[in-house]
Amino acid sequence: MIKIGLLGLGTVGTGVYSILERHSENLKSKIGTGLQIEKILVRDIEKQRDIDIDGTLLTEKVEDVLENPEIDLVVELIGGEEPAYQYILQALKNGKSVVTANKLLIAKYGPELMKMAAEKGVSIYFEASVAGGIPIIRPLRESFAANKIERIFGILNGTTNYILTRMTKEGQELDIALKEAQRLGYAESDPSSDISGADAAYKIAILSSIAYETVIDIEDVHIEGIENIEIEDIEIARELGYVIKLLAISKFTSKGVDIRVHPAFIPVNHPLASVHDAYNAIYLHGDSVGDVMLYGQGAGRFPTASAVVADIIQAGKEIYHGSPDINGNIYKNNHGIMDISQVENSFYLRLQVKDKPGVLAKIAEVLGRNQVSLASVIQKHRQNPVVPIVLVTHQVKEEYLQKSIAEFKNIEEIVAVKNIIRVEEL
Ligand SMILES: NC(=O)c1ccc[n+]([C@@H]2O[C@H](COP(=O)([O-])OP(=O)(O)OC[C@H]3O[C@@H](n4cnc5c(N)ncnc54)[C@H](OP(=O)(O)O)[C@@H]3O)[C@@H](O)[C@H]2O)c1
Repeated sequence: MIKIGLLGLGTVGTGVYSILERHSENLKSKIGTGLQIEKILVRDIEKQRDIDIDGTLLTEKVEDVLENPEIDLVVELIGGEEPAYQYILQALKNGKSVVTANKLLIAKYGPELMKMAAEKGVSIYFEASVAGGIPIIRPLRESFAANKIERIFGILNGTTNYILTRMTKEGQELDIALKEAQRLGYAESDPSSDISGADAAYKIAILSSIAYETVIDIEDVHIEGIENIEIEDIEIARELGYVIKLLAISKFTSKGVDIRVHPAFIPVNHPLASVHDAYNAIYLHGDSVGDVMLYGQGAGRFPTASAVVADIIQAGKEIYHGSPDINGNIYKNNHGIMDISQVENSFYLRLQVKDKPGVLAKIAEVLGRNQVSLASVIQKHRQNPVVPIVLVTHQVKEEYLQKSIAEFKNIEEIVAVKNIIRVEEL
């Protein structure tokens, strides 16, 4: 019998508890021995819970889990940085394998947690930390192991994808769509980590570490959120044959890992453009397998619990058979991260200019001097006294584009640079 200590009995913890109850016989036959929940740490044992649970399992004392010699496997579903980090570290130090859904911890402390696990001859699994119910960590480590992964594009945040979908399909303003996402339980009461792109950045950092076996310092990942996206951008994207998605991008290059999270124009006929609502997807390219897309629910009680329980089964088998994770260290290398200024993209620029003759020539002169060439120029309807102008550039190094934008300040007729969005042809 494998004895489990659960840390947390919230959305995901409750899902894990009920799957373990519901499928106990099936899981036993998969592992070779049964699974038993020994203790569950919560903040408040008096709290009303939406499942029937034996009250003696609950505890508010973490020692009942971490220092309990009966417990072989600790499942961390508290979330956040502290105290989850200390709890996981202590569990590993005490020779217990760990399963977690905590993307922040793996993105920030993955190397030291894996090192501790290896030293203690135990394992740490984190399938649910990226894209909830979509299997991607184990596929990257095992199913695609024969490949050199060259690039990964992900829609990894359900909240922002839901908001952008409502803006695109119904013309809703961002703040209205966000309120709707909160009402439906897709967005948390504090949605800042989703909206700012930070949540997606943790996830693409984890995927990149596994794909390229490298340390990724999350501080070096370029992150932009969807705060500045307006309905006008979405409409112009549509006219040009694109949709706007919050994309998590990772490419292995000879100059380091090109890793970033930002809104992007993507072609309307690309498979990622049809990932709507709160769904997630990962589109990757391996040198042998070619293009692969994985699609599904990136969050939610049961989709996320499905991934956690898969890890529990894997860890359970290892504990039962006495062989810890044999997949090896995913942080073998330090390939470095490309500075965003060196990355090449084409760009969409939306400007507001005074309606005066010669303004376009002045803009074109600044761009041309900075090696930025234009693929198209669209002048939108006059909104007196200003005229919206949309420019789409050819591929150019980001530093040249930024230099041009800085020089736009010298053009008196430019009233505002309303938005700059990268165009990813994928
Ligand atoms: N929700 C999702 O759809 C989803 C998807 C993917 C990944 N995840 C990840 O899964 C993890 C859990 O998320 P969740 O949505 O299930 O969280 P949640 O609903 O907020 O549940 C957190 C649980 O942890 C307990 N807890 C919190 N702080 C504690 C502390 N200091 N000491 C003891 N117990 C504490 C809470 O106890 P009480 O019950 O007593 O308050 C609660 O049971 C997070 O890492 C999250 O990022 C979640």
